[in-house]
This record gives sequence, structure tokens and C-alpha cells, in this order.
Amino acid sequence: MHLDLNGKTTLVTGAATGIGRAIAVAMAGAGATVVVNHLGRAQLADDTVALIEAAGGTAWAVEANVSSGDAVRHMMDACLQRHGVVDILVNNAGILLEKPFLDIRESEWDHVLATDLKSVFLCCQAALPAMLSRGNGCIINVASELGYLGRAGFAAYTAAKAGVITLTRSLAREFAPHVRVNAIAPGPVDTSMLALDHMSAAWAAKEADVPMGRVGRPEEIAATAVFLASSHASYYCGQTLSPNGGALMV
Ligand SMILES: NC(=O)c1ccc[n+]([C@@H]2O[C@H](COP(=O)([O-])OP(=O)(O)OC[C@H]3O[C@@H](n4cnc5c(N)ncnc54)[C@H](O)[C@@H]3O)[C@@H](O)[C@H]2O)c1
Repeated sequence: MHLDLNGKTTLVTGAATGIGRAIAVAMAGAGATVVVNHLGRAQLADDTVALIEAAGGTAWAVEANVSSGDAVRHMMDACLQRHGVVDILVNNAGILLEKPFLDIRESEWDHVLATDLKSVFLCCQAALPAMLSRGNGCIINVASELGYLGRAGFAAYTAAKAGVITLTRSLAREFAPHVRVNAIAPGPVDTSMLALDHMSAAWAAKEADVPMGRVGRPEEIAATAVFLASSHASYYCGQTLSPNGGALMV
């Protein structure tokens, strides 16, 4: 199966590190021109661009806080000026808050929901008009298996990720057949967010306690994103794919 994204422009949010970087590199590997969004991580974003260029691809970096409507609109304007349209939008940026529910401050709740859920609303609303006027587009939202499962100590994050899954379905219904909107709900993936290096051996073993016997690699999530963006996924609409090592089977 040849996944060809030649001629497509892809915006990946939070692409300086982790899963976002892997998605950016994989999209470029399939031929897309990639816009690497970051927040306060210019050097790491440049490293993502350099990785793509070293492999013969095309990319550029743009800083924007995706939880700010003004910042998102400026970012989208810059993309549209340069490329006319964003064909593929990957809403990947996110943060994690681990805290007992009773200790979560209102400001912390708002920050997590703004970064993990409102950002998807803002980026989709900014990207959709140009997609619709061209008659096609593709949006991929990065949720989490925890958006289905919930987890003690992660109430704000899991609520936001559940919201991402349902927002994906609502947008898919509203904008099909012109724009395909789908999501990915990864299981545990070896990035700085999971912070395996800083975990006790016992807790790291617990994270890896899935049928596949290990946590995932960012590249394994990126492969799902490239598939969803490709013409091979032309009948996927409102779905949440789950590269999760078998952690959750639905
Ligand atoms: N690592 C996992 O186990 C795992 C599992 C399921 C889902 N996810 C999801 O995958 C996505 C990527 O996470 P990751 O594991 O690569 O972690 P990561 O911390 O490496 O990546 C998150 C990126 O988002 C960026 N970011 C945060 N707030 C931002 C903002 N306001 N504007 C722009 N960028 C912002 C960060 O700077 C970082 O580069 C997240 O949405 C996360 O919730 C991760």
C-alpha cells in the first residue's frame, strides 16, 4: 500500500517533540509539505524541520499557542498565505495533569481543557473555511485511550480527551463528505509526556502491562495518522483508531 501525500500541506500542532514530531516526519516522508507548530520550543521545532529536510522533505516552523484564538488565527493566516489551504490538520498538541481530583485548582482545570480540547475547536474552526471552499480536507485529532477509560488522578486530561473523541464525531457528521474528521486514541507511548525515564521500575512495568508487552513508539502512532490522511482512508469518517498495544479493545 503506497501512502501518497504529495502536493498536500499538513499542519501538525505540538510537533516539536514526541508524537507530533513523529507525525510531522512521517507526513513529510509521504510527500506532504509540513508546518511544524510549537509553543516556546523553537530549537526543537527547528530540529523537526531539519529531520524532515535531511530526508528530502519540505517543512517550516511556526510558533503559536493553540489554546489562544488570536494565536491560532495568526498561524492559520500564515499557512494560508503560503499554501492557500491546509489540506491536513493534525491536532496533536496536549498537556497532562496528574493530580488528585480534590486538589485540582480551577485555573489548572481551565488550562488543561484549553490546551487539550479548546485548541481542537480553535484550530478546526480556523482551518475549515478554506477546506470547505476547496471541497476537501482532512482533520485528525489526537485523543487518548484514557478518553475512554478514565483514570484516577487524571480527571481534567481524561475529560478533555473524551471531549476530543466526541467533538471528532460531531465535526465528522457536520462536514462529511467534504472534510473527513477522525481521531487517534493512543495507548501509552514513549515520549516526554509519559516520562518513563522518571518513573519507578514498578510503575514503568505497569504502563507496559498491555497485551503487546511494551509501550508504543511515536512512529507507531504516526503511521496511523498517515493512513488516516491518505486516500486509503477515504471511507473513514468520525472514527477513533486505537494504536494502543491492546490496552483497550472496543
Ligand atoms: N505519550 C503518551 O503516552 C500519549 C498517550 C495518548 C495520547 N497522547 C497524546 O499525544 C499528544 C502528543 O503528546 P506526546 O506524548 O508526544 O507528548 P509531548 O509532551 O512530547 O508533546 C506535546 C507537545 O504539545 C506542545 N504543546 C503543549 N501546549 C501547547 C500549546 N498551547 N500550543 C502549542 N503546542 C503546545 C508541547 O510543547 C509538546 O511539544 C498529546 O495530545 C497527548 O495527550 C500521548
